Amino acid sequence: MTGRNRFEAKSVIVTGAGSGIGRETALAFAREGALVTVADINKVGAEETVSAIEAEGCTARVSVVDVANAASVESMVEEAVDAYGRIDVLHNNAYWAPLNRSVVDTTEEEWDQALAVTLKSVWLGCKYAIPHMVKGGGGAIVNTASTASFVAGPSFAAYIAAKGGVLALTRSVAYDFGKQGIRCNGVAPGLVETPATEDVFSDPARVAPIRSHLLLGRHGQPGEIAQAVLFVASDDAAYMTGQTIVVDGGRLAG
Ligand SMILES: NC(=O)c1ccc[n+]([C@@H]2O[C@H](COP(=O)([O-])OP(=O)(O)OC[C@H]3O[C@@H](n4cnc5c(N)ncnc54)[C@H](O)[C@@H]3O)[C@@H](O)[C@H]2O)c1
Repeated sequence: MTGRNRFEAKSVIVTGAGSGIGRETALAFAREGALVTVADINKVGAEETVSAIEAEGCTARVSVVDVANAASVESMVEEAVDAYGRIDVLHNNAYWAPLNRSVVDTTEEEWDQALAVTLKSVWLGCKYAIPHMVKGGGGAIVNTASTASFVAGPSFAAYIAAKGGVLALTRSVAYDFGKQGIRCNGVAPGLVETPATEDVFSDPARVAPIRSHLLLGRHGQPGEIAQAVLFVASDDAAYMTGQTIVVDGGRLAG
Protein backbone atom coordinates (compact mmCIF):
# COMPACT_ATOMS: atom_id res chain seq x y z
CA MET A 1 0.00 0.00 0.00
CA THR A 2 1.09 3.59 -0.54
CA GLY A 3 0.19 6.67 1.52
CA ARG A 4 -2.80 7.24 -0.78
CA ASN A 5 -5.84 5.00 -0.89
CA ARG A 6 -7.90 6.46 -3.72
CA PHE A 7 -9.14 3.04 -4.88
CA GLU A 8 -9.85 1.34 -1.55
CA ALA A 9 -12.13 -1.69 -2.22
CA LYS A 10 -12.80 -0.53 -5.79
CA SER A 11 -13.03 -3.18 -8.51
CA VAL A 12 -10.57 -2.34 -11.29
CA ILE A 13 -9.98 -4.19 -14.58
CA VAL A 14 -6.69 -3.61 -16.42
CA THR A 15 -6.25 -5.22 -19.85
CA GLY A 16 -2.78 -6.01 -21.14
CA ALA A 17 -1.78 -6.23 -17.49
CA GLY A 18 0.60 -9.13 -18.04
CA SER A 19 3.39 -6.82 -19.20
CA GLY A 20 4.74 -3.29 -19.45
CA ILE A 21 2.47 -0.35 -18.75
CA GLY A 22 -0.55 -2.51 -17.85
CA ARG A 23 1.45 -4.44 -15.25
CA GLU A 24 2.67 -1.24 -13.58
CA THR A 25 -0.82 0.23 -13.67
CA ALA A 26 -2.30 -2.91 -12.08
CA LEU A 27 0.36 -2.73 -9.36
CA ALA A 28 -0.27 0.97 -8.75
CA PHE A 29 -4.06 0.47 -8.47
CA ALA A 30 -3.53 -2.44 -6.08
CA ARG A 31 -1.14 -0.41 -3.91
CA GLU A 32 -3.95 2.14 -3.47
CA GLY A 33 -6.37 -0.50 -2.23
CA ALA A 34 -8.05 -1.70 -5.43
CA LEU A 35 -9.25 -5.24 -6.10
CA VAL A 36 -7.59 -5.73 -9.46
CA THR A 37 -8.56 -8.01 -12.33
CA VAL A 38 -5.30 -8.58 -14.22
CA ALA A 39 -6.51 -9.34 -17.74
CA ASP A 40 -4.26 -10.55 -20.53
CA ILE A 41 -4.12 -13.13 -23.31
CA ASN A 42 -0.76 -14.19 -21.84
CA LYS A 43 -1.67 -16.27 -18.78
CA VAL A 44 1.92 -16.53 -17.54
CA GLY A 45 2.40 -12.77 -17.73
CA ALA A 46 -0.87 -12.17 -15.90
CA GLU A 47 0.08 -14.67 -13.21
CA GLU A 48 3.42 -12.92 -12.71
CA THR A 49 1.62 -9.60 -12.24
CA VAL A 50 -0.79 -11.10 -9.71
CA SER A 51 2.14 -12.67 -7.82
CA ALA A 52 3.89 -9.30 -7.69
CA ILE A 53 0.71 -7.67 -6.36
CA GLU A 54 0.12 -10.38 -3.76
CA ALA A 55 3.77 -10.18 -2.67
CA GLU A 56 3.00 -6.62 -1.59
CA GLY A 57 0.00 -7.80 0.43
CA CYS A 58 -2.51 -6.46 -2.07
CA THR A 59 -5.40 -8.13 -3.93
CA ALA A 60 -5.65 -9.27 -7.55
CA ARG A 61 -6.88 -12.09 -9.74
CA VAL A 62 -5.94 -13.40 -13.19
CA SER A 63 -8.35 -13.12 -16.11
CA VAL A 64 -7.26 -14.76 -19.36
CA VAL A 65 -8.91 -12.76 -22.13
CA ASP A 66 -8.69 -12.06 -25.82
CA VAL A 67 -9.71 -8.41 -25.91
CA ALA A 68 -10.55 -8.71 -29.61
CA ASN A 69 -13.25 -11.31 -28.94
CA ALA A 70 -16.68 -10.23 -27.70
CA ALA A 71 -17.52 -13.41 -25.78
CA SER A 72 -14.13 -13.36 -24.09
CA VAL A 73 -14.46 -9.70 -23.02
CA GLU A 74 -18.00 -10.31 -21.76
CA SER A 75 -16.68 -13.20 -19.62
CA MET A 76 -13.82 -11.02 -18.32
CA VAL A 77 -16.34 -8.45 -17.12
CA GLU A 78 -18.89 -10.92 -15.72
CA GLU A 79 -16.19 -12.84 -13.82
CA ALA A 80 -14.82 -9.61 -12.35
CA VAL A 81 -18.34 -8.74 -11.14
CA ASP A 82 -18.72 -12.25 -9.68
CA ALA A 83 -15.37 -11.94 -7.89
CA TYR A 84 -15.51 -8.34 -6.65
CA GLY A 85 -19.20 -7.42 -6.83
CA ARG A 86 -18.99 -4.49 -9.22
CA ILE A 87 -16.84 -2.62 -11.77
CA ASP A 88 -15.54 0.82 -10.79
CA VAL A 89 -12.65 1.31 -13.22
CA LEU A 90 -11.80 -0.16 -16.61
CA HIS A 91 -8.38 0.47 -18.09
CA ASN A 92 -8.41 -0.54 -21.78
CA ASN A 93 -4.69 -0.94 -22.40
CA ALA A 94 -3.92 -4.11 -24.42
CA TYR A 95 -2.71 -3.71 -27.98
CA TRP A 96 -1.18 -5.46 -30.93
CA ALA A 97 0.04 -4.07 -34.25
CA PRO A 98 2.54 -5.10 -36.93
CA LEU A 99 5.81 -3.19 -36.89
CA ASN A 100 7.50 -1.64 -39.91
CA ARG A 101 4.46 -1.62 -42.18
CA SER A 102 3.30 1.25 -44.35
CA VAL A 103 -0.24 1.05 -45.74
CA VAL A 104 1.21 -0.61 -48.84
CA ASP A 105 3.04 -3.33 -46.89
CA THR A 106 0.25 -4.13 -44.40
CA THR A 107 -1.71 -7.30 -45.14
CA GLU A 108 -5.49 -7.43 -44.70
CA GLU A 109 -5.06 -9.95 -41.89
CA GLU A 110 -2.59 -7.68 -40.05
CA TRP A 111 -4.86 -4.66 -40.48
CA ASP A 112 -7.90 -6.50 -39.15
CA GLN A 113 -5.98 -7.94 -36.20
CA ALA A 114 -4.37 -4.60 -35.26
CA LEU A 115 -7.70 -2.78 -35.38
CA ALA A 116 -9.38 -5.59 -33.44
CA VAL A 117 -6.85 -5.82 -30.60
CA THR A 118 -6.09 -2.09 -30.36
CA LEU A 119 -9.44 -0.39 -31.12
CA LYS A 120 -12.34 -2.85 -31.23
CA SER A 121 -11.14 -4.01 -27.81
CA VAL A 122 -11.85 -0.57 -26.36
CA TRP A 123 -15.42 -0.71 -27.70
CA LEU A 124 -15.92 -4.22 -26.32
CA GLY A 125 -14.57 -3.31 -22.88
CA CYS A 126 -16.88 -0.30 -22.71
CA LYS A 127 -19.85 -2.24 -24.09
CA TYR A 128 -19.75 -4.85 -21.36
CA ALA A 129 -18.46 -2.82 -18.40
CA ILE A 130 -20.62 0.32 -18.70
CA PRO A 131 -23.96 -1.34 -17.77
CA HIS A 132 -22.37 -2.61 -14.54
CA MET A 133 -20.83 0.80 -13.83
CA VAL A 134 -24.18 2.52 -14.36
CA LYS A 135 -25.88 -0.01 -12.08
CA GLY A 136 -23.20 0.70 -9.45
CA GLY A 137 -23.73 4.47 -9.62
CA GLY A 138 -20.89 5.40 -12.00
CA GLY A 139 -17.35 4.59 -12.97
CA ALA A 140 -14.21 5.66 -14.79
CA ILE A 141 -12.79 4.32 -18.05
CA VAL A 142 -9.20 5.03 -19.04
CA ASN A 143 -8.08 4.15 -22.56
CA THR A 144 -4.40 3.93 -23.43
CA ALA A 145 -3.92 6.11 -26.50
CA SER A 146 -0.47 7.14 -27.80
CA THR A 147 1.38 10.13 -29.18
CA ALA A 148 0.55 8.25 -32.41
CA SER A 149 -3.06 9.33 -31.81
CA PHE A 150 -1.88 12.87 -32.62
CA VAL A 151 1.10 12.61 -34.96
CA ALA A 152 2.28 10.05 -37.49
CA GLY A 153 5.52 8.11 -37.31
CA PRO A 154 7.32 5.87 -39.76
CA SER A 155 5.68 2.68 -41.09
CA PHE A 156 3.22 1.98 -38.32
CA ALA A 157 0.01 2.64 -40.25
CA ALA A 158 -2.46 0.24 -38.65
CA TYR A 159 -1.34 1.22 -35.14
CA ILE A 160 -1.61 4.93 -35.88
CA ALA A 161 -5.08 4.49 -37.36
CA ALA A 162 -6.22 2.42 -34.38
CA LYS A 163 -4.83 4.89 -31.84
CA GLY A 164 -6.53 7.78 -33.63
CA GLY A 165 -9.73 5.81 -33.25
CA VAL A 166 -9.11 5.35 -29.53
CA LEU A 167 -9.07 9.14 -29.14
CA ALA A 168 -12.39 9.55 -30.96
CA LEU A 169 -14.04 6.62 -29.19
CA THR A 170 -12.97 8.07 -25.83
CA ARG A 171 -14.88 11.26 -26.62
CA SER A 172 -17.90 9.33 -27.90
CA VAL A 173 -18.20 7.25 -24.72
CA ALA A 174 -17.80 10.39 -22.60
CA TYR A 175 -20.55 12.07 -24.63
CA ASP A 176 -23.06 9.24 -24.33
CA PHE A 177 -22.61 8.25 -20.68
CA GLY A 178 -21.45 11.32 -18.75
CA LYS A 179 -24.89 12.02 -17.33
CA GLN A 180 -25.00 8.45 -16.02
CA GLY A 181 -21.86 9.00 -13.98
CA ILE A 182 -19.35 7.50 -16.40
CA ARG A 183 -16.15 9.43 -17.08
CA CYS A 184 -14.05 8.29 -20.03
CA ASN A 185 -10.57 9.65 -20.62
CA GLY A 186 -7.36 8.64 -22.35
CA VAL A 187 -3.70 8.64 -21.47
CA ALA A 188 -1.31 8.99 -24.40
CA PRO A 189 2.23 7.81 -23.66
CA GLY A 190 5.28 8.74 -25.67
CA LEU A 191 8.21 6.36 -25.88
CA VAL A 192 8.21 4.10 -22.80
CA GLU A 193 10.61 1.28 -22.01
CA THR A 194 8.54 -1.94 -22.08
CA PRO A 195 8.84 -5.34 -23.76
CA ALA A 196 6.96 -3.81 -26.71
CA THR A 197 9.78 -1.33 -27.35
CA GLU A 198 12.70 -3.68 -26.70
CA ASP A 199 13.74 -3.58 -30.35
CA VAL A 200 13.95 0.23 -30.25
CA PHE A 201 16.00 0.28 -27.07
CA SER A 202 18.35 -2.44 -28.30
CA ASP A 203 19.38 -0.19 -31.21
CA PRO A 204 21.15 3.03 -30.09
CA ALA A 205 20.89 4.39 -33.63
CA ARG A 206 17.09 4.33 -33.31
CA VAL A 207 16.93 5.66 -29.75
CA ALA A 208 19.23 8.69 -30.21
CA PRO A 209 17.09 10.66 -32.71
CA ILE A 210 13.90 9.93 -30.73
CA ARG A 211 15.51 11.05 -27.49
CA SER A 212 16.77 14.26 -29.11
CA HIS A 213 13.10 15.31 -29.52
CA LEU A 214 12.22 14.72 -25.86
CA LEU A 215 12.20 17.98 -23.87
CA LEU A 216 13.08 16.05 -20.71
CA GLY A 217 15.98 14.33 -22.50
CA ARG A 218 14.90 10.81 -21.56
CA HIS A 219 12.26 8.23 -22.39
CA GLY A 220 9.53 7.22 -19.95
CA GLN A 221 9.10 4.36 -17.52
CA PRO A 222 5.85 2.36 -17.23
CA GLY A 223 5.29 3.56 -13.66
CA GLU A 224 5.19 7.16 -14.89
CA ILE A 225 2.32 6.30 -17.24
CA ALA A 226 0.59 4.35 -14.45
CA GLN A 227 0.48 7.47 -12.26
CA ALA A 228 -1.31 9.40 -15.03
CA VAL A 229 -3.81 6.54 -15.45
CA LEU A 230 -4.54 6.54 -11.71
CA PHE A 231 -5.04 10.30 -11.74
CA VAL A 232 -7.66 10.27 -14.51
CA ALA A 233 -9.36 7.22 -12.98
CA SER A 234 -9.54 8.81 -9.53
CA ASP A 235 -11.85 11.38 -7.98
CA ASP A 236 -8.94 13.83 -8.29
CA ALA A 237 -10.10 14.08 -11.92
CA ALA A 238 -13.82 14.14 -11.05
CA TYR A 239 -14.58 17.01 -13.47
CA MET A 240 -12.56 15.60 -16.37
CA THR A 241 -14.09 13.56 -19.18
CA GLY A 242 -13.64 13.06 -22.91
CA GLN A 243 -10.00 14.17 -22.71
CA THR A 244 -6.72 12.46 -23.42
CA ILE A 245 -3.64 13.60 -21.54
CA VAL A 246 -0.25 13.26 -23.18
CA VAL A 247 2.59 11.89 -21.03
CA ASP A 248 5.54 11.97 -23.39
CA GLY A 249 8.50 13.81 -21.86
CA GLY A 250 7.57 16.78 -24.04
CA ARG A 251 7.77 14.99 -27.39
CA LEU A 252 4.71 16.73 -28.86
CA ALA A 253 5.44 20.10 -27.29
CA GLY A 254 8.90 20.70 -28.76
N1 LIG B 1 5.67 1.35 -24.78
C1 LIG B 1 5.48 2.48 -25.43
O1 LIG B 1 6.44 3.20 -25.83
C2 LIG B 1 4.08 2.96 -25.72
C3 LIG B 1 3.91 4.24 -26.31
C4 LIG B 1 2.62 4.68 -26.58
C5 LIG B 1 1.53 3.89 -26.26
N2 LIG B 1 1.73 2.67 -25.71
C6 LIG B 1 0.55 1.88 -25.41
O2 LIG B 1 0.62 1.37 -24.09
C7 LIG B 1 -0.13 0.15 -24.03
C8 LIG B 1 0.70 -0.92 -23.38
O3 LIG B 1 1.87 -1.11 -24.16
P1 LIG B 1 3.18 -1.77 -23.57
O4 LIG B 1 4.33 -1.02 -24.14
O5 LIG B 1 3.05 -1.93 -22.11
O6 LIG B 1 3.12 -3.19 -24.33
P2 LIG B 1 3.44 -4.68 -23.83
O7 LIG B 1 3.72 -5.45 -25.09
O8 LIG B 1 4.47 -4.68 -22.77
O9 LIG B 1 2.05 -5.15 -23.22
C9 LIG B 1 0.94 -5.38 -24.04
C10 LIG B 1 0.13 -6.49 -23.41
O10 LIG B 1 -1.05 -6.69 -24.19
C11 LIG B 1 -1.32 -8.07 -24.21
N3 LIG B 1 -2.17 -8.44 -25.34
C12 LIG B 1 -1.83 -8.49 -26.65
N4 LIG B 1 -2.87 -8.94 -27.38
C13 LIG B 1 -3.88 -9.19 -26.51
C14 LIG B 1 -5.20 -9.68 -26.65
N5 LIG B 1 -5.70 -10.01 -27.86
N6 LIG B 1 -5.96 -9.82 -25.55
C15 LIG B 1 -5.48 -9.50 -24.32
N7 LIG B 1 -4.24 -9.03 -24.12
C16 LIG B 1 -3.44 -8.88 -25.20
C17 LIG B 1 0.06 -8.71 -24.32
O11 LIG B 1 0.04 -10.10 -23.96
C18 LIG B 1 0.87 -7.84 -23.38
O12 LIG B 1 0.88 -8.38 -22.06
C19 LIG B 1 -0.58 -0.16 -25.46
O13 LIG B 1 -1.90 0.29 -25.65
C20 LIG B 1 0.38 0.65 -26.30
O14 LIG B 1 -0.13 1.00 -27.56
C21 LIG B 1 2.97 2.19 -25.42
